[in-house]
Amino acid sequence: MDRLRTDTAHVWAVDLERETHMLAETLSEDEWMRADRFVFEKHRAHFVAARGCLRAILAKYMDCKPGELAFFYGEHGKPALASPWDKSQLRFNLSHSAGLALIAVSMRHEIGIDVEPLSRKVGQMKDIAKRFFAPGEYERLCALPREEQRRAFFCCWTRKEAYLKAMGTGLTHSLKNFEVSLGRKAELLWIKEGNIKDWTLQHLEPAKGYVGAVAIAGKDVEVKIVKHFLRDLCLNKGVN
Ligand SMILES: CC(C)(COP(=O)(O)OP(=O)(O)OC[C@H]1O[C@@H](n2cnc3c(N)ncnc32)[C@H](O)[C@@H]1OP(=O)(O)O)[C@@H](O)C(=O)NCCC(=O)NCCS
Repeated sequence: MDRLRTDTAHVWAVDLERETHMLAETLSEDEWMRADRFVFEKHRAHFVAARGCLRAILAKYMDCKPGELAFFYGEHGKPALASPWDKSQLRFNLSHSAGLALIAVSMRHEIGIDVEPLSRKVGQMKDIAKRFFAPGEYERLCALPREEQRRAFFCCWTRKEAYLKAMGTGLTHSLKNFEVSLGRKAELLWIKEGNIKDWTLQHLEPAKGYVGAVAIAGKDVEVKIVKHFLRDLCLNKGVN
Protein backbone atom coordinates (compact mmCIF):
# COMPACT_ATOMS: atom_id res chain seq x y z
CA MET A 1 0.00 0.00 0.00
CA ASP A 2 1.23 3.56 -0.78
CA ARG A 3 2.63 5.47 2.16
CA LEU A 4 -0.02 7.69 3.72
CA ARG A 5 0.82 11.41 3.34
CA THR A 6 0.69 13.79 6.29
CA ASP A 7 -1.97 15.92 4.54
CA THR A 8 -4.36 12.98 4.12
CA ALA A 9 -6.29 10.79 6.56
CA HIS A 10 -8.24 7.64 5.75
CA VAL A 11 -11.49 6.56 7.39
CA TRP A 12 -12.41 2.90 6.95
CA ALA A 13 -16.04 1.88 7.52
CA VAL A 14 -16.62 -1.78 8.36
CA ASP A 15 -19.80 -3.77 8.90
CA LEU A 16 -19.03 -5.90 11.96
CA GLU A 17 -21.83 -8.35 11.29
CA ARG A 18 -20.06 -9.82 8.22
CA GLU A 19 -17.50 -12.62 8.13
CA THR A 20 -15.77 -11.89 11.38
CA HIS A 21 -14.42 -15.32 12.29
CA MET A 22 -11.42 -15.13 9.92
CA LEU A 23 -9.96 -12.23 11.85
CA ALA A 24 -10.26 -13.70 15.34
CA GLU A 25 -7.04 -15.69 15.15
CA THR A 26 -4.97 -12.50 14.73
CA LEU A 27 -5.82 -11.18 18.22
CA SER A 28 -3.25 -11.17 21.02
CA GLU A 29 -3.69 -12.84 24.40
CA ASP A 30 -4.59 -9.58 26.16
CA GLU A 31 -7.19 -8.78 23.49
CA TRP A 32 -8.78 -12.20 24.07
CA MET A 33 -8.81 -11.53 27.81
CA ARG A 34 -10.71 -8.29 27.15
CA ALA A 35 -13.08 -10.08 24.78
CA ASP A 36 -13.89 -12.68 27.41
CA ARG A 37 -14.96 -9.97 29.88
CA PHE A 38 -18.04 -9.06 27.79
CA VAL A 39 -21.27 -10.39 29.25
CA PHE A 40 -23.23 -10.47 25.97
CA GLU A 41 -21.98 -12.61 23.10
CA LYS A 42 -22.93 -9.94 20.55
CA HIS A 43 -20.70 -7.34 22.26
CA ARG A 44 -17.87 -9.86 22.48
CA ALA A 45 -18.21 -10.70 18.77
CA HIS A 46 -18.20 -7.02 17.80
CA PHE A 47 -15.11 -6.33 19.91
CA VAL A 48 -13.27 -9.28 18.32
CA ALA A 49 -14.34 -8.22 14.82
CA ALA A 50 -13.36 -4.58 15.38
CA ARG A 51 -9.93 -5.52 16.78
CA GLY A 52 -9.32 -8.07 14.03
CA CYS A 53 -10.33 -5.52 11.46
CA LEU A 54 -8.14 -2.83 13.00
CA ARG A 55 -5.19 -5.22 12.77
CA ALA A 56 -6.00 -6.14 9.15
CA ILE A 57 -6.23 -2.47 8.13
CA LEU A 58 -3.09 -1.31 9.97
CA ALA A 59 -1.16 -4.28 8.55
CA LYS A 60 -1.91 -2.99 5.06
CA TYR A 61 -0.14 0.29 5.86
CA MET A 62 2.73 -1.43 7.67
CA ASP A 63 3.09 -4.17 5.06
CA CYS A 64 3.11 -6.91 7.65
CA LYS A 65 0.74 -9.61 8.88
CA PRO A 66 -2.10 -8.50 11.22
CA GLY A 67 -1.04 -10.88 14.01
CA GLU A 68 2.47 -9.39 14.12
CA LEU A 69 1.31 -5.95 15.25
CA ALA A 70 1.61 -4.94 18.90
CA PHE A 71 -0.17 -2.10 20.73
CA PHE A 72 0.48 -0.01 23.78
CA TYR A 73 -2.07 2.11 25.66
CA GLY A 74 -1.89 5.76 26.74
CA GLU A 75 -2.73 6.98 30.25
CA HIS A 76 -6.47 7.01 29.46
CA GLY A 77 -6.53 3.89 27.30
CA LYS A 78 -5.87 5.26 23.80
CA PRO A 79 -4.24 2.48 21.76
CA ALA A 80 -1.15 3.18 19.62
CA LEU A 81 1.33 1.04 17.70
CA ALA A 82 4.09 -0.33 19.93
CA SER A 83 7.76 -0.80 19.02
CA PRO A 84 9.02 -1.38 16.33
CA TRP A 85 5.85 -0.27 14.50
CA ASP A 86 5.78 3.11 16.29
CA LYS A 87 8.70 4.32 14.13
CA SER A 88 6.30 4.56 11.19
CA GLN A 89 4.51 7.52 12.89
CA LEU A 90 1.19 6.00 11.79
CA ARG A 91 -1.64 7.14 14.06
CA PHE A 92 -5.08 5.57 14.29
CA ASN A 93 -8.30 5.52 16.25
CA LEU A 94 -11.35 3.28 16.37
CA SER A 95 -15.02 3.69 17.18
CA HIS A 96 -17.75 1.09 17.03
CA SER A 97 -21.45 1.32 17.63
CA ALA A 98 -24.45 -0.85 16.70
CA GLY A 99 -22.49 -3.16 14.36
CA LEU A 100 -20.58 -0.46 12.51
CA ALA A 101 -16.88 0.27 13.05
CA LEU A 102 -14.96 3.30 11.83
CA ILE A 103 -11.19 3.17 11.81
CA ALA A 104 -9.30 6.41 11.18
CA VAL A 105 -5.67 6.43 10.10
CA SER A 106 -3.31 9.38 9.72
CA MET A 107 0.39 10.04 9.42
CA ARG A 108 2.07 11.92 12.30
CA HIS A 109 -1.05 13.86 13.42
CA GLU A 110 -3.03 12.53 16.37
CA ILE A 111 -6.49 11.43 15.29
CA GLY A 112 -9.81 10.62 16.97
CA ILE A 113 -13.06 9.23 15.61
CA ASP A 114 -16.58 8.66 16.87
CA VAL A 115 -19.78 7.20 15.40
CA GLU A 116 -23.30 6.88 16.79
CA PRO A 117 -26.60 5.61 15.38
CA LEU A 118 -29.21 8.40 15.30
CA SER A 119 -31.67 5.91 16.79
CA ARG A 120 -29.59 5.51 19.97
CA LYS A 121 -31.70 5.91 23.10
CA VAL A 122 -30.64 8.86 25.24
CA GLY A 123 -32.55 10.15 28.26
CA GLN A 124 -33.46 13.79 28.21
CA MET A 125 -31.30 15.18 25.41
CA LYS A 126 -31.55 18.79 26.55
CA ASP A 127 -30.70 17.90 30.14
CA ILE A 128 -27.61 16.00 28.99
CA ALA A 129 -26.62 18.89 26.72
CA LYS A 130 -27.07 21.41 29.55
CA ARG A 131 -24.96 19.32 31.89
CA PHE A 132 -22.11 18.34 29.53
CA PHE A 133 -22.00 20.59 26.47
CA ALA A 134 -20.49 24.10 26.32
CA PRO A 135 -23.14 26.80 27.08
CA GLY A 136 -23.11 28.03 23.45
CA GLU A 137 -23.80 24.52 22.15
CA TYR A 138 -26.69 24.06 24.56
CA GLU A 139 -28.23 27.39 23.54
CA ARG A 140 -27.92 26.60 19.82
CA LEU A 141 -29.46 23.16 20.36
CA CYS A 142 -32.47 24.60 22.22
CA ALA A 143 -33.00 27.24 19.50
CA LEU A 144 -33.45 24.56 16.82
CA PRO A 145 -36.89 23.23 15.76
CA ARG A 146 -37.71 20.09 17.75
CA GLU A 147 -37.41 17.75 14.72
CA GLU A 148 -33.81 18.88 14.10
CA GLN A 149 -32.61 18.49 17.66
CA ARG A 150 -31.80 14.75 17.70
CA ARG A 151 -29.50 14.96 14.69
CA ALA A 152 -27.84 18.15 15.98
CA PHE A 153 -27.32 16.52 19.39
CA PHE A 154 -25.50 13.52 17.88
CA CYS A 155 -23.47 15.71 15.49
CA CYS A 156 -22.34 17.75 18.48
CA TRP A 157 -21.69 14.67 20.62
CA THR A 158 -19.62 12.78 18.01
CA ARG A 159 -17.57 15.91 17.16
CA LYS A 160 -16.77 16.47 20.82
CA GLU A 161 -15.89 12.84 21.43
CA ALA A 162 -13.72 12.66 18.26
CA TYR A 163 -11.79 15.71 19.47
CA LEU A 164 -11.25 14.23 22.94
CA LYS A 165 -10.21 10.90 21.44
CA ALA A 166 -7.63 12.68 19.27
CA MET A 167 -6.32 14.30 22.46
CA GLY A 168 -6.26 10.84 24.07
CA THR A 169 -8.08 12.01 27.19
CA GLY A 170 -11.49 10.61 26.24
CA LEU A 171 -14.24 11.78 28.56
CA THR A 172 -11.83 12.47 31.45
CA HIS A 173 -11.46 16.00 29.95
CA SER A 174 -14.35 18.45 30.36
CA LEU A 175 -16.69 18.70 27.40
CA LYS A 176 -17.20 22.37 28.30
CA ASN A 177 -13.60 23.38 27.47
CA PHE A 178 -14.28 23.61 23.75
CA GLU A 179 -17.14 24.29 21.38
CA VAL A 180 -18.16 22.71 18.07
CA SER A 181 -20.78 23.40 15.40
CA LEU A 182 -24.08 21.51 15.38
CA GLY A 183 -24.97 21.78 11.69
CA ARG A 184 -24.02 19.70 8.65
CA LYS A 185 -20.52 21.21 8.48
CA ALA A 186 -18.28 20.15 11.35
CA GLU A 187 -16.29 23.04 12.82
CA LEU A 188 -14.23 23.50 15.92
CA LEU A 189 -15.39 26.94 17.06
CA TRP A 190 -13.44 27.53 20.25
CA ILE A 191 -10.92 25.74 22.48
CA LYS A 192 -9.76 26.83 25.92
CA GLU A 193 -6.13 25.94 25.20
CA GLY A 194 -4.47 25.95 21.78
CA ASN A 195 -5.47 27.24 18.36
CA ILE A 196 -8.52 25.97 16.46
CA LYS A 197 -6.64 26.54 13.20
CA ASP A 198 -4.30 23.69 14.08
CA TRP A 199 -7.18 21.21 13.82
CA THR A 200 -9.23 19.51 11.11
CA LEU A 201 -12.75 18.40 12.04
CA GLN A 202 -14.92 16.56 9.55
CA HIS A 203 -18.53 15.38 9.63
CA LEU A 204 -19.15 11.74 8.62
CA GLU A 205 -22.25 9.86 7.45
CA PRO A 206 -20.75 6.40 7.04
CA ALA A 207 -24.06 4.54 6.65
CA LYS A 208 -27.78 5.29 6.66
CA GLY A 209 -28.91 6.32 10.13
CA TYR A 210 -25.43 6.99 11.53
CA VAL A 211 -23.49 10.20 12.11
CA GLY A 212 -19.89 10.56 13.13
CA ALA A 213 -16.89 12.80 13.14
CA VAL A 214 -13.15 12.60 12.77
CA ALA A 215 -10.78 15.07 14.45
CA ILE A 216 -7.15 15.45 13.41
CA ALA A 217 -4.49 17.49 15.21
CA GLY A 218 -3.24 19.01 11.95
CA LYS A 219 -4.56 21.79 9.73
CA ASP A 220 -6.29 21.23 6.36
CA VAL A 221 -6.00 17.47 6.33
CA GLU A 222 -8.05 15.86 3.56
CA VAL A 223 -10.23 12.99 4.79
CA LYS A 224 -10.83 10.11 2.38
CA ILE A 225 -13.51 7.52 3.14
CA VAL A 226 -12.67 3.91 2.35
CA LYS A 227 -15.50 1.38 2.63
CA HIS A 228 -14.36 -2.20 2.95
CA PHE A 229 -15.79 -5.52 3.89
CA LEU A 230 -13.92 -7.80 6.23
CA ARG A 231 -13.64 -10.61 3.70
CA ASP A 232 -11.68 -8.42 1.26
CA LEU A 233 -9.30 -7.39 4.01
CA CYS A 234 -8.59 -11.00 4.98
CA LEU A 235 -8.15 -12.31 1.48
CA ASN A 236 -5.71 -9.60 0.43
CA LYS A 237 -3.14 -10.67 2.97
CA GLY A 238 -2.56 -13.77 5.08
CA VAL A 239 -4.23 -13.18 8.41
CA ASN A 240 -1.50 -14.15 10.83
C1 LIG B 1 -12.52 6.62 24.89
C2 LIG B 1 -13.99 6.75 25.17
C3 LIG B 1 -14.41 8.18 24.83
C4 LIG B 1 -14.69 5.71 24.28
O1 LIG B 1 -16.02 5.94 24.16
P1 LIG B 1 -17.16 5.00 23.50
O2 LIG B 1 -18.10 5.91 22.79
O3 LIG B 1 -17.69 4.15 24.57
O4 LIG B 1 -16.50 4.00 22.48
P2 LIG B 1 -15.98 4.12 20.98
O5 LIG B 1 -16.45 2.90 20.29
O6 LIG B 1 -16.24 5.43 20.32
O7 LIG B 1 -14.40 4.03 21.19
C5 LIG B 1 -13.81 2.93 21.78
C6 LIG B 1 -12.42 2.80 21.23
O8 LIG B 1 -11.67 3.98 21.43
C7 LIG B 1 -10.31 3.65 21.69
N1 LIG B 1 -9.95 4.32 22.95
C8 LIG B 1 -10.00 3.84 24.22
N2 LIG B 1 -9.59 4.81 25.08
C9 LIG B 1 -9.29 5.90 24.33
C10 LIG B 1 -8.81 7.21 24.64
N3 LIG B 1 -8.56 7.60 25.89
N4 LIG B 1 -8.62 8.08 23.62
C11 LIG B 1 -8.85 7.72 22.35
N5 LIG B 1 -9.32 6.49 21.99
C12 LIG B 1 -9.52 5.59 22.97
C13 LIG B 1 -10.22 2.13 21.75
O9 LIG B 1 -9.73 1.65 20.52
C14 LIG B 1 -11.66 1.71 21.96
O10 LIG B 1 -12.02 0.52 21.31
P3 LIG B 1 -11.65 -0.92 21.93
O11 LIG B 1 -11.95 -0.81 23.38
O12 LIG B 1 -12.53 -1.85 21.19
O13 LIG B 1 -10.23 -1.08 21.63
C15 LIG B 1 -14.33 6.49 26.64
O14 LIG B 1 -14.13 5.13 26.92
C16 LIG B 1 -13.49 7.33 27.59
O15 LIG B 1 -13.72 8.48 27.83
N6 LIG B 1 -12.44 6.82 28.16
C17 LIG B 1 -11.56 7.66 28.97
C18 LIG B 1 -10.92 6.97 30.04
C19 LIG B 1 -11.91 6.31 30.93
O16 LIG B 1 -12.85 6.86 31.40
N7 LIG B 1 -11.63 5.08 31.18
C20 LIG B 1 -12.43 4.25 31.99
C21 LIG B 1 -11.52 3.25 32.62
S1 LIG B 1 -12.37 2.31 33.77
